[in-house]
Amino acid sequence: MTPPTPPRYVLGIESSCDETSVAILGGDGRVLSSVVSSQIAAHQRYGGVVPEIAARAHLQNLPVLLDEALSAAGVGMGDVGAVAATAGPGLVGALLVGLSEGKGIALGLGVPFVPVHHIEGHCLSPFLRLDGGPSRPIPDAFTALVVSGGHTHLYRFTGAGIDLAARTRDDAAGEAYDKVAKMTGLGYPGGPVIDRIAAAVKIADPFPVPQFKDGSLDFSFSGLKTAVRERLSALGVSPATGVPGDRPALAEADVSLRLRELLADFQEAVVRQLEDRLTRLLARERIPLLTVSGGVAANSLLRERLAIWGRRNGLEVLLPERALTSDNAAMIAFAGLRRAGREPVEGEMDAPARSRWPLESLRPC
Ligand code: KG4
Ligand code: ZN
Repeated sequence: MTPPTPPRYVLGIESSCDETSVAILGGDGRVLSSVVSSQIAAHQRYGGVVPEIAARAHLQNLPVLLDEALSAAGVGMGDVGAVAATAGPGLVGALLVGLSEGKGIALGLGVPFVPVHHIEGHCLSPFLRLDGGPSRPIPDAFTALVVSGGHTHLYRFTGAGIDLAARTRDDAAGEAYDKVAKMTGLGYPGGPVIDRIAAAVKIADPFPVPQFKDGSLDFSFSGLKTAVRERLSALGVSPATGVPGDRPALAEADVSLRLRELLADFQEAVVRQLEDRLTRLLARERIPLLTVSGGVAANSLLRERLAIWGRRNGLEVLLPERALTSDNAAMIAFAGLRRAGREPVEGEMDAPARSRWPLESLRPC
């Protein structure tokens, strides 16, 4: 069967967690518009994402963002040739909002609907450009490090499928940032504030990089979190408990030098562990190209160090534009576009919202 020609325009919808987003991409992967509405303010007072609040906010935001994305792209709804929406993994109530909207639009227009795996979207996000140009070509084989609030996973895209090279055995890297920020009273999310604070100080007393006795390349961040908690009590900072208010208990400007140094040590430990696993993977196998994506890929130190790591090891490290590191519909539309250009699959209209969905179970693309 000859694969269908790619649609001229694809509409993407993302609603898996606390960001509502709609994007329009051209058939060559050109980002024509990508609008994101973050719900951070709505969840901040609870110190994390509240599923019911997220679902309700997606319901309110989606119609507005849809109009904005179409008009920013200068594309009419009737021109859309395929619709892609995140089907998982994520919060089921939140996912259902975007998934149902996407199916409804595709059905109404009589165009293909593509249910997208959120993590496949992250893995492909480094190939997108925001300068108005077409996407970079995606090689058959590449290795993808995903570092987000829910994932710290290393995947091999082989052309014949996707396999898992390593995953976190406990917390994800972003989760560690969020938990450490919560402990210190710096509020939610932890990544951006710790990134800013740590950039301004030198590391003082580095934490060790954990290793597993079985030689596995898996990640672990829960020991680091405990080590941070112990140093915090030594500093006399008692871990923040209970429900924080609308504002963080500790303002960024009031953070002591000792605490700044501790946060820099924490960040250094996260980056060192990621470098360590990549170096050990490279000693075992060829890495044709490395992509690094997910919310933590916005981190300044990580971006700088992995660029150096790539140069030192003679391999290309591709990071997404900062605006595409956190959840966005451009990456979802892109993953959908890639799949819409292949053989159509029966039953995509019945695709369920999935809280769990191993990326390795996806059919090759
Ligand atoms: O990919 P993402 O937006 O959502 C998930 O799918 O999880 O990632 C969110 C995570 C949060 O844990 C947040 O603290 C972290 O990414 N993050 C950062 C930075 N910006 C966001 N972590 C470190 N440095 C940053 N600059
Ligand atoms: Zn994500």
